[in-house]
Amino acid sequence: MNTELINQLLIHVEDACKSPNNPFGFGIWSHHIKPMIEIGRKLAKDYNADTEVVIIAVLLHDLAAIKDGSKRKEHHIFGAEEAKTILTKYNYSNNKIELVQKCILNHRGSVNNPKSTIEEICVADADAIAHIQEIGSLFYVAYKEMDMDIDEGMSWIRGKIQRDWNKMSERGKKQFKNKYNEIMKILG
Ligand SMILES: [Fe+2]
Ligand SMILES: [Fe+2]
Repeated sequence: MNTELINQLLIHVEDACKSPNNPFGFGIWSHHIKPMIEIGRKLAKDYNADTEVVIIAVLLHDLAAIKDGSKRKEHHIFGAEEAKTILTKYNYSNNKIELVQKCILNHRGSVNNPKSTIEEICVADADAIAHIQEIGSLFYVAYKEMDMDIDEGMSWIRGKIQRDWNKMSERGKKQFKNKYNEIMKILG
């Protein structure tokens, strides 16, 4: 495990989350990226994936949108490009950079690209599980950040959780079925 690189990336991403330019507020670090690192680590072990690649992709997967809100709609594309720039600077190996890029490019439920590697599946599952586990952060985005009214917010959160569910692998679904059903019951 390249802990030196991961430590550098932890600092880089946490700093970006602290910046006033981050449209999501610091909660995207404390209630999305940070818990997702632990979820990704666990899934990588369960799924027999490359833990280092998964953790690096988790750290960088939303970075483009965190740094620049105007890139949000295509943050998977910008994020994959930026990952290449950052990781090349650290002399990370080309084949692992490519794998990290695939994880970022294919992590979104709203895009739901096919995934060809176990690492991509890990990152997409970890993203979905982090949303389900940190449901409060979705309420924050709907009501505070997007300023939605009550009904709009509930319907947006429901849609988001549903898209997250749809992008999950079968084994991820099996593990999180109960939690997903409980949340959907509450969301109505
Ligand atoms: Fe994302
Ligand atoms: Fe995410």
